[in-house]
Amino acid sequence: MTEQWLEAAPEDSLGEGILRPVFPGGLPVLLVRRGPEIFAIENRCAHMGCPLAAGKLEGHILECPCHDWRFDIRDGSFLAAPELALKTYKTELRNGSIFVRIL
Ligand code: FES
Repeated sequence: MTEQWLEAAPEDSLGEGILRPVFPGGLPVLLVRRGPEIFAIENRCAHMGCPLAAGKLEGHILECPCHDWRFDIRDGSFLAAPELALKTYKTELRNGSIFVRIL
């Protein structure tokens, strides 16, 4: 299958630790910058679908605002049961923009 990368946001719009919802190709994705890395995860909780953009971030751990499920933004895993995970997407910087690989 051919890779598909879509522009999601200007790089300078994503400050450290900000939870920024974007919709590349209509998908609900959450961008998070941690130090030199930019992570992209599904912006929909694996429990009951709450948007994670309103959650609380500590280090690389994101807590859902609805019922406090906690996920690692590096691989999307649910801390209490790592076999359950959010979808994650690769990111890349190109000419000042953040691109997300959706396929
Ligand atoms: S919807 Fe996220 S913990 Fe329930």
